[in-house]
Amino acid sequence: MREISVKVLVIGGGPGGYVCAIRAGQLGLDVMLVEEQALGGTCLNVGCIPSKALIHAADAYGHAVAQSVAAPFGIRVEHPSIDLARTVEWKDGIVGKLKGGVGALLKRHKVKAVRGRAAMLDGKTCRVESDTGPQVIRAEHVVLATGSQPAALPALPFGGRVISSTEALSLPSVPRRLAVIGAGYIGLELGTAYAKLGAEVTVIEAEERILPAYDAELARPVARRLQALGVEVLTRARATGLTPDGAALRVEPAGAAARAVEADWFLVAVGRRPRTADVGLDQLDLTMNGPAVRIDERCATSMRNVWAIGDLTGEPMLAHRAMAQGAMVAEIIAGQRRVFDKVAIPAVCFTDPEVVTVGLSPDEARAAGHTVQTATFPFQANGRAMTLASEDGFVRVVARADNHVILGIAAVGAGVSELSSAFSLALEMGARLEDIAGTIHAHPTLGEAFHETALRVLGEALHV
Ligand code: FAD
Ligand code: NAI
Repeated sequence: MREISVKVLVIGGGPGGYVCAIRAGQLGLDVMLVEEQALGGTCLNVGCIPSKALIHAADAYGHAVAQSVAAPFGIRVEHPSIDLARTVEWKDGIVGKLKGGVGALLKRHKVKAVRGRAAMLDGKTCRVESDTGPQVIRAEHVVLATGSQPAALPALPFGGRVISSTEALSLPSVPRRLAVIGAGYIGLELGTAYAKLGAEVTVIEAEERILPAYDAELARPVARRLQALGVEVLTRARATGLTPDGAALRVEPAGAAARAVEADWFLVAVGRRPRTADVGLDQLDLTMNGPAVRIDERCATSMRNVWAIGDLTGEPMLAHRAMAQGAMVAEIIAGQRRVFDKVAIPAVCFTDPEVVTVGLSPDEARAAGHTVQTATFPFQANGRAMTLASEDGFVRVVARADNHVILGIAAVGAGVSELSSAFSLALEMGARLEDIAGTIHAHPTLGEAFHETALRVLGEALHV
């Protein structure tokens, strides 16, 4: 069997693993990356990118349908229709291009990329089953970046018409009816997209309201839009399995009679689990944090020179967190003094309207012992939002009452995902309300709502 020695072995080629490998290559380290499926991991192949492509196509189709019914902009559209197979082809084209890009970047940084399944034998040795046969890799440092996989419900195992987000991103045609279990990120992003594409969508959520990870104020405009799109939302409801003929889902809403929800597909989106099986973690006996690998502020595991990054290490399971961890670990291995000391990790939900949060909500800030000042600014008072015909939503800022340091920024609205960078920068730079108030924000932009919110907390809002 072939044996190879490297300085750094990265297992998993998702955003965590490939960024770690590129950064390690930039720093002159001898690095190997093992990926069993496709470079780019969940995010690029069956996550962030394909879902956003589908959401965009659904938006475009939704606009065409809206114009065909009433033509507020004076555009006449007649009988729009969608060929989902072509949409999926377009989406796959984007994925293919980006995947090629990741491969080229790895090559440019002299990363040895191996396709195969890796299983740890001990903290420094790994067996890889590759297309060219088994290999043993010995490494000074091992970076575990095996990501996560969809959580299954015991009563609704995946298979047949019970699908995860992966299958939902490549359906052969727009379903007539779609049942979605879970009103979190995936359930609502994809549920909304399919509703716009013309499916009758029912969402079943165990908690009291949709998007329970976000505060109620932020979830409200999303709930309003779901209602306008005709999406049926059953909250405090449990899916207990399929009916014997497999055509409907048995649902038990709290305090109401059990009912059957008929659908062509049943999309289970009740969270994701760190991918710990098959990578030989039992050989390492790492300290765990529930289902995730426990790490410290340097992404070090309980075993020396074994590092873990990304979804494998638990929440928040976001691509940009995985990437930041990956780059940091490469720098630590190269001898730099680094800790993961980010003030905040932005979260964006690509629903309609989109939701962005960075830092603390007003309640979280108070619970952390701060006396706070907070205000919102509605997009109804923002000229750009009007020109985009998307006025539902607002920006919210939370700041310390004593020194005006900003603790949290959130927004709900069409296109607000693009404001997340400005929000993160403000928090990371330790901005005070006066810094935002004193910055010129271009007109007419949605970003002016951020400016106005800071002014409003200071009692100086100009446009509301
Ligand atoms: P992954 O991307 O899961 O990559 C892990 C890789 O390791 C995989 O390619 C896997 O094949 C490989 N692997 C596993 N075991 C082995 C082994 N034993 N040997 C070799 N290779 C192995 N996040 C966002 O920030 N924004 C979004 O908009 C967003 N949208 C999403 C939409 C959907 C539908 C889904 C499912 C997820 C979305 N996410 C989003 C989450 C995001 O995809 C993850 O947070 C991110 O991919 C985690 O990166 P990672 O590198 O930790 O793991
Ligand atoms: P999620 O955690 O966002 O939402 C799961 C939802 O399912 C929750 O509302 C939960 O209360 C509900 N639920 C749990 N068990 C249930 C049951 N038995 N019946 C009914 N409802 C139940 O998980 P989701 O949507 O699967 O996404 C997984 C992860 O992927 C996210 O947490 C996020 O980290 C990542 N992601 C990020 C995106 C983004 O950044 N825009 C987009 C998509 C996914």
